[in-house]
This record gives sequence, structure tokens and C-alpha cells, in this order.
Amino acid sequence: MDQKLQSLREQFRDDLNSVSSAAELAGLRDKYLGRKSGLIAAEKKRVGSLSSDERAEFGREVNEISAEVETEIARLNEQLASEAETAGLERETVDITLPGARPRRGHLHPITLVRQRIEDIFVSMGYTVADGPEIETSFYNFDALNIPAGHPARDSADTFYVSEDLALRSQTSTVQIHTMQRQKPPLRVIAPGRVFRRDTPDPTHNPMFFQVEGLNVDRNITLADLKGTLQKFVEMMFGANLRTRFRPSYFPFTEPSAEVDFSCYGCDGKGCRLCKGSGWIELGGSGMVHPNVLEKVGIDPEEFSGFAFGLGIDRMAGLMYEIDDIRLLFENEVRFLKQFS
Ligand code: DAH
Repeated sequence: MDQKLQSLREQFRDDLNSVSSAAELAGLRDKYLGRKSGLIAAEKKRVGSLSSDERAEFGREVNEISAEVETEIARLNEQLASEAETAGLERETVDITLPGARPRRGHLHPITLVRQRIEDIFVSMGYTVADGPEIETSFYNFDALNIPAGHPARDSADTFYVSEDLALRSQTSTVQIHTMQRQKPPLRVIAPGRVFRRDTPDPTHNPMFFQVEGLNVDRNITLADLKGTLQKFVEMMFGANLRTRFRPSYFPFTEPSAEVDFSCYGCDGKGCRLCKGSGWIELGGSGMVHPNVLEKVGIDPEEFSGFAFGLGIDRMAGLMYEIDDIRLLFENEVRFLKQFS
């Protein structure tokens, strides 16, 4: 073989051995097979300087080398591609035997847990759950609830006013009015929800808190029905052996009115830290719906009577979970809330 061709072939074989990437291989292809400045094209040009006997032999040898270069480059190209594919697949391998990452799940807020329990108890007694707006006109906040003009409850020092006639409700009793306007008796509803008062926050007060209202209107509803209902509620919520007591009180929308307490489940009425030594725990306000309230919504107080009550949900949550600062319930501090998951 021609001396120069022989050394070109050896040079190519060396070069080929040192290629390790597709980019290098593309460079190598240019170097040898480039149409204009490729090394093989340069060899081919030498044919003109050869004698005619030498030409045939030289041409055959150049073609042989050219073919070898083509084949080797194609072979290496394929090999590099398949190595790249294998490496890619290895990178993407998923070990399905590894334990999965547990998704972080949320959980219900303690207020929600207590509200749901209260709802379940009253639903089991035949009540439905009602809802009403958090911003109300003076009619729903006061007039319809028999709260006269000039009553301190209307004072802007106690109530958050949005405008002259609109205020955030300060009690869920407003839902009594909506319910009776919507529905004729007999009706039995509870209405849990947020209420707002201009109180300075302290361990037992927060400007926003939760109440659950109860309303039962039918023919011949008496105070005995109210007492029996709340007694049953206390038994189901706090303990079967507990007693209730009704202390005379005053609310504009009920007559007569009573504050309801139940015997302390921490000490069975003897007095302990939970009931602050009194043996009784306050449950909320209650009474027989005032005839004026029934009249305001077009229900004949001669034909129908009803009882109503309003209980503090956050107070119950505080008791059940032994939280002595109710503000904790509203701060959304995750380390606190986590305890209820
Ligand atoms: N709305 C009263 C309050 O927030 C609680 C209450 C008392 C509700 C007597 C009633 C009721 O339905 O009859 O203090």
C-alpha cells in the first residue's frame, strides 16, 4: 500500500480510539471525510501526479480507506447512541420497592370538631342545621329580636358597625328571625356560626367567637321541653350522669329567660379547678321565645310557642380540650393546632 495512505489509515485508527463523545466523532468525520478539506479528499487529489499504472491501484486503496473510515464512524456513532440511551434509562430508574413519601394531610380545627359533635347530637334529636349572614341590618340584629332603640346592645362601643344600618352580628339569635321568615312552624333548627363583639381580647374573650343557636317552635312548646332538650344535650355532650340548673335571667327576645349551668364533670359538683370551685359550669342563655318576636315574623303567639337557646362553641371546646386561653383557638399557630390531628 501507498506509504502515505498506510500512515493515514493508522492515524485514523488512533484518532478513532480516542473519541469518547458524539461531538468528537462529528469532528473526526469532518477531519477525514470533509468534502473540501478532509484528509481523504486531499489524498484523492494526489491521483493527478501519479503515473497511469499507479492510478488504478492507488484509487482502489483510497476507496478502501474511505470505506473503512465511513463504516467505523457509523459503527462508533451507533455505539455511542446506544450507550447514551442505556445511561438515560438507568438515571430514570424508579425503585418501586422503596417506601413512598407520606403525603402531609391536614385535619379539622378543634372548633370544627366540637361544632360537628354538637350538630350530630341535635340532628339525632330531629333538628336541622341552619345558617345566616354575618353582616345584618338593624332589623335582624335588634328590632326583630325585641331589642328596643337605645338598648345598650345597640351601642357602637359593643357592636362592630359597618354602616349606619349594618353591623356584624353579635349573636347567632339573628338566624332565629331568618329561619322563621323562611319556614312556618313546626320548626326545629340549630345555627352554629361566628359572632363579633368589641371586646378586648383576654383568656376568656375574643372579638370573634362561635355560638350555636337553637330554636324550636311548635304548638304547645313549654319550658319543660327546653329543660329536657338541654338536659339531654348535656348528657350526650359531657356525660350521662350530669345535672342541669336554670337560673332566672333576662334577654329581650325571650320571656321567661334563664341561664343554664350543668354540674361539673371534673368533680361531680363538689368544686374543682375546672368549675373554679363552684361545682357548676355555664352552658349558655335560653328562654321561651318572646311573643313580640313571633309577631315580628308573622307567627301567631296564641297558636304557637317556642324555646330558644344560645351556647358558646369555643367555651365548650376550651372545656373539652382543657384550653385555658381561648385566643389560642383563633391564632392558627400550627404547633397548637397539630395537637388535634
Ligand atoms: N344571644 C344570647 C347571647 O349571645 C344567648 C341567648 C340567650 C340566645 C337566650 C337565645 C336565648 O336564643 O333564648 O348572649
